[in-house]
Amino acid sequence: MWASDNVGGEALEKLVIEGGAVLKGTVRVHGAKNAALPILAATVMAEGVHTIENVPPLLDIKVMADILRSIGCTVDIREGRVTVDTSRADTPHIPEELMQRMRSSIFLMGPLLARFGRVELYQPGGCAIGERKIDLHLKGLELLGARIEQTQGRIVCRAERLVGTDIFLGIPSVGATENIMMAAVGAEGVTRIINAAREPEIQDLQNFLNRMGARVSGAGTDTITIQGVRELRPCTYRVIPDRIVAGTLMIAAAVTRGEVTLEDVCPDHLTALTHVLRQAGVQITSGDAIMNVRCSRRPGMIERIVTAPYPSFPTDLQAQMMVLLSLADGLSIVKETVFDGRFKHVHELTRMGADIRVDCGSAFIRGVPRLYGTTVEATDLRAGAALVIAGLVAQGTTIVEKVHHIDRGYDRIEDMFGRLGARIERLEPAPGAT
Ligand code: EPU
Repeated sequence: MWASDNVGGEALEKLVIEGGAVLKGTVRVHGAKNAALPILAATVMAEGVHTIENVPPLLDIKVMADILRSIGCTVDIREGRVTVDTSRADTPHIPEELMQRMRSSIFLMGPLLARFGRVELYQPGGCAIGERKIDLHLKGLELLGARIEQTQGRIVCRAERLVGTDIFLGIPSVGATENIMMAAVGAEGVTRIINAAREPEIQDLQNFLNRMGARVSGAGTDTITIQGVRELRPCTYRVIPDRIVAGTLMIAAAVTRGEVTLEDVCPDHLTALTHVLRQAGVQITSGDAIMNVRCSRRPGMIERIVTAPYPSFPTDLQAQMMVLLSLADGLSIVKETVFDGRFKHVHELTRMGADIRVDCGSAFIRGVPRLYGTTVEATDLRAGAALVIAGLVAQGTTIVEKVHHIDRGYDRIEDMFGRLGARIERLEPAPGAT
């Protein structure tokens, strides 16, 4: 069952949260959206039937399946397993409407170029968290030999052959690293991506590409080397656990002063968060694919958190962490350096009673004893998750609107927290409501 299937109606869904929960229990973390999306896009590079496991049932995954179908693939999704038959993929053209539905639609650019020598698509959509250019993706493909034309949002890339080269990324962009890696697998000779992103999702893509027969090494470091290969074969692959969902649960456990055990988690992917939470007084133990998070007192302030590419503190957990700091003892500072528009939750949190001032890309958060429930809007995926956490701990009832943003990255967040003791319910719009 998909979190929000009825496009249109989904925009009207709300979460109603009764504050005062103390999260307790054990929860299994689902597969990583941001690993599954490029992997699903990369399946088109090898003809045949792929099976991708541990794929979370999220809105963005459904959009990726629709995109793959639009180019001729057959896609079957069942209980976390996605089967993609790419043998009938016959068009390197992605309709504008599908491109607009999420940022990750851009992941088709590298794979389609590698397979067909041509790709036609449009500027991608995605969460409104700041300027999200694709210049590094395009520059990388150009350096591999692609000719790129852009007119009014339409992008056409052509290359009779791609040839490996050194590509330096001015910013270690996750998406650009992934797109270039995928295209370079189909290039002649060796490509080196220098100043590459080091996120765990990049390593997962490397492992998947290699399972198909590619020769990629170095993912997880700042230099990735790709030896082009002539042929790839379809394969079966299991996606890594979602470190951002895990981090969201860890923060929620701490904020509600509960105790939560996470299963199917990769503790090594959460080092920056674990470090900061421990500094705030949260008790965390971890083992093989398991973590326990416990907090029995008011968290302490954190002098300074700076979001930055992995392995630094992730921008995708900044909003959730701000809820904890809003209730911490003292003044904390959070500097966002990855996206220029990722403080939209600040306005909503202040409406719930938080004391936060934003100045020059930093948020100054003076901890308050409590937050108060009210109606707030999920402006983007992680801001939405943060407001849900705020609602769990607030006094009174919180209504979170625009839940479809949250559904892009969490498989029914109300059930995830509900199983841990939260009182949270999804309100569907009345029939005929617009
Ligand atoms: N950038 C450019 N030019 C480019 C590409 C990126 O200037 O060609 C800039 C962006 O504007 C941004 C920075 O570089 O300021 C970092 O962007 P990056 O490309 O690394 O991010 P992304 O690939 O668009 C992925 C995740 C995001 C996550 C970021 C950073 C996926 C599908 N998305 O986005 O996830 O925030 O990396 O870690 O992997 C989320 O899950 O909520 C989410 C937004």
